[in-house]
Amino acid sequence: MKFGHFDDSRKEYVINTPKTPYPWINYLGNQGFFSLISNTAGGYSFYMDARLRRITRYRYNNVPLDMGGRYFYINDNGTVWNPGWSPVKTELDEYECRHGMGYTIIEGKKNGLKAEVTFFVPQNYDGEVQQVVLTNEGSEAKEFSLFSMAEWCLWDAQDDCTNFQRNFSTGRVEIEGSTIYHVTEYRDRRNHYAFYTVNDEIDGYDTDRDAFLGSIYNGWDNPETVKAGKASDSFADGWSPIASHFKKITLAPGESKTLIYILGYAENPQDKKFASEKPANLLTREAWVLNKEKAYAMIDKYNTPEKVAKGLEELRTTWENLLSIYKVDTPDDKVNRMVNIWNQYQCMVTFNLSRSASYFESGIGRGMGFRDSNQDILGFVHQIPDRARARLIDIASTQLSDGGCYHQYQPLTKKGNADIGGDFSDDPLWMIMSVAAYIKETGDWGILDANVPFDDDPEGKHTMLEHLNVSFYHIVNNLGPHGLPLAMRADWNDCINLSCFSDTPGESFQTYTNPKFKAEGGYSKIAESVFVAALFTYTGPAYVGILEHLGKADEAAKAQAEIDKMKKNTMESAFDGEWFLRAYDANGEKMGSHECEEGKIFIEPQGFAVMSEIGKDVGADIKTLNSIDKYLNCEYGLVLNNPAFTKYYIQYGEISTYPGGYKENAGIFTHNNAWIICAEAYAGRGEKAFEYYSKIAPAFTEETSDIHKTEPYVYGQMIGGKDAKNFGQGKNSWLTGTAAWNMVAISQYILGIKPEFDGLRVDPSIPSAWDGFKVERKFRGDVYEIEIKNPDHVCKGVKKLTVDGNEIDGCIVPVAGDGQTHKVEVVLG
Ligand code: GLC
Ligand code: GLC
Repeated sequence: MKFGHFDDSRKEYVINTPKTPYPWINYLGNQGFFSLISNTAGGYSFYMDARLRRITRYRYNNVPLDMGGRYFYINDNGTVWNPGWSPVKTELDEYECRHGMGYTIIEGKKNGLKAEVTFFVPQNYDGEVQQVVLTNEGSEAKEFSLFSMAEWCLWDAQDDCTNFQRNFSTGRVEIEGSTIYHVTEYRDRRNHYAFYTVNDEIDGYDTDRDAFLGSIYNGWDNPETVKAGKASDSFADGWSPIASHFKKITLAPGESKTLIYILGYAENPQDKKFASEKPANLLTREAWVLNKEKAYAMIDKYNTPEKVAKGLEELRTTWENLLSIYKVDTPDDKVNRMVNIWNQYQCMVTFNLSRSASYFESGIGRGMGFRDSNQDILGFVHQIPDRARARLIDIASTQLSDGGCYHQYQPLTKKGNADIGGDFSDDPLWMIMSVAAYIKETGDWGILDANVPFDDDPEGKHTMLEHLNVSFYHIVNNLGPHGLPLAMRADWNDCINLSCFSDTPGESFQTYTNPKFKAEGGYSKIAESVFVAALFTYTGPAYVGILEHLGKADEAAKAQAEIDKMKKNTMESAFDGEWFLRAYDANGEKMGSHECEEGKIFIEPQGFAVMSEIGKDVGADIKTLNSIDKYLNCEYGLVLNNPAFTKYYIQYGEISTYPGGYKENAGIFTHNNAWIICAEAYAGRGEKAFEYYSKIAPAFTEETSDIHKTEPYVYGQMIGGKDAKNFGQGKNSWLTGTAAWNMVAISQYILGIKPEFDGLRVDPSIPSAWDGFKVERKFRGDVYEIEIKNPDHVCKGVKKLTVDGNEIDGCIVPVAGDGQTHKVEVVLG
């Protein structure tokens, strides 16, 4: 069942009922000011940091779920309704929500009155613009009242939802004309404020929540002022400050009225915090007056429909440019809309938000993950290489000089987060992968010479190349009894904690140090990760390639020898006959073997092992891929392990705390499905690669939205696996490494357009039914118009490749570097 449709020409998803199976959200903002907005206008705004600069309030895990947002209320002769249906939930005659690239349009119609609200955050602007267009489509004149409403958060979202003994007394506002200012704590230590304004005279206002609602027993669905058709002109003093504008409107038949509301944020320099004069119309309880110069300028920027139209046009152009770098035209519309629109859009959101603020991430928890942010780079490096470079340097600067990493860092301070700790065995390798991806995209070898400190040597002179070196050798220097990498506190799978042995509720599986491993440095020197071994053999060659390019042949040979040794060790000790083991636990027992009772096979090591060609000579790759198909493949994707754990295995840790079929315990963790898609494509099995891709790619799940629940235009972290009661049900949408990895899987492995150090590889692995496809790729200043023909209906194999009519050997298109457009023709066969 569907709840809307894709409008590809406008790059929008159009939702046709407010009652989606879960709030379906969008993100507004791209630089400093961000908003989350659901299809009923729920959500909130913040500046830079969803915890420390929360602008509007939102209650997570609320009842009903999505309650709180920026709401417009209409009272039309006693019928009270919202254009987005919620919170009053009066049945609308018509409803539509269009989520587009950085904007959302919500339209509701009731009794001949239409309200269309366009929400967006303009480029280089710290505010959300809301343009409300009201049209009387009836044959009689209409007289009605319109109320806006936003509830302020008292800045620190964590404090705001816990420290009530203080913050019920601190709320402060000022009102000047049609603008309501939020100035809590401004008098003392803050220099930032927020405002909510409308570009017209108002007939009243409310700034105190309880006064607006009329009673502490009312909710947002039942505000007395709206029902009465009149604001109460309340002035907040502590408790919960809000901003609500009241306006009486009369429209002749056919007449329209446009109002522009702006929810803005501004910071003042310390010495310019206060205004010297108090204007006559200013309402305040304070002895001081906020300096509002910045707000005035911001209001002036978008106070007419013409200016709003220009802002929207700029936003559109920005997105046209971002999406022009990789454009595809395949026989499958769903692939086209994922690659050309939604997957790239989601990658940009993960760049901006990492794992901080979604409808599943509260915005007060996680900072930037070392492994997460490195992997995210893979998805957006082609769109914003400069910002990717800056991000790489930030991430690398949190690394320690022995190659170890803080697992997370705070975006505001850019410092490693000691609470979450380190010793995640996979972290350093993702850094090699992301830096290599950056160089392959840009050809900017200079990044290797960039001065990048270590966290434990902040003043020292170190280069990015040194970071890659210590990353590589951090693995080599920490091997266990089988010559495989130590598993440490966890690897990519945060929930495989082989040194934890926790039996006390509340202990963190990732940071708790069991006394039995204290003397050994906190983790077992026996437990080994086969996943990290495979990730090492997959990623290591990029490091070797870099050394070779730099003419460091000896170092390259030395590194290559380590990779070869790791492959040998993996084949000798970690091939289970039909697939690769997952690990050796701290008792030296196999994990992920046919000998195990549960968790016989795991997904994570397999794809990287196949792509590293470990045991390819004896058919290990195809056996492994076939085993995945046999044991992990199901209707909605590939489960992480099988069979699911049905009891707590103290030696495995958090993974066995989840009910079977959810999260890391046999859920469909879409992130690592991508690695198998890549591996199937690599092995030339284009049909399988595409089958797995289409099971999880959102556009393909649209038809089963009732089961899938989350947005059909973006990936979520997890889908309930075959052992779960809610098989096929998505969770944790938006902020997931799946966005980046599936962008890699489809664009570089299936469609096969892959940047390499010395050019652009074109080597697709597609469903054999395809006649071919076209890609336009901007790469290092040139444009490549690539046409792939598949006359023999094969999955893989480049028979002939010409660039501007000249045939070349192999399948790497050399960099032309002349800023021109080049025609690439490829014949498969
Ligand atoms: C989450 C984390 C990611 C981890 C994965 C598996 O998605 O963000 O870092 O690799 O879970 O545990
Ligand atoms: C990952 C997992 C999650 C776990 C967290 C830390 O994000 O997906 O299940 O709780 O790591 O433990």
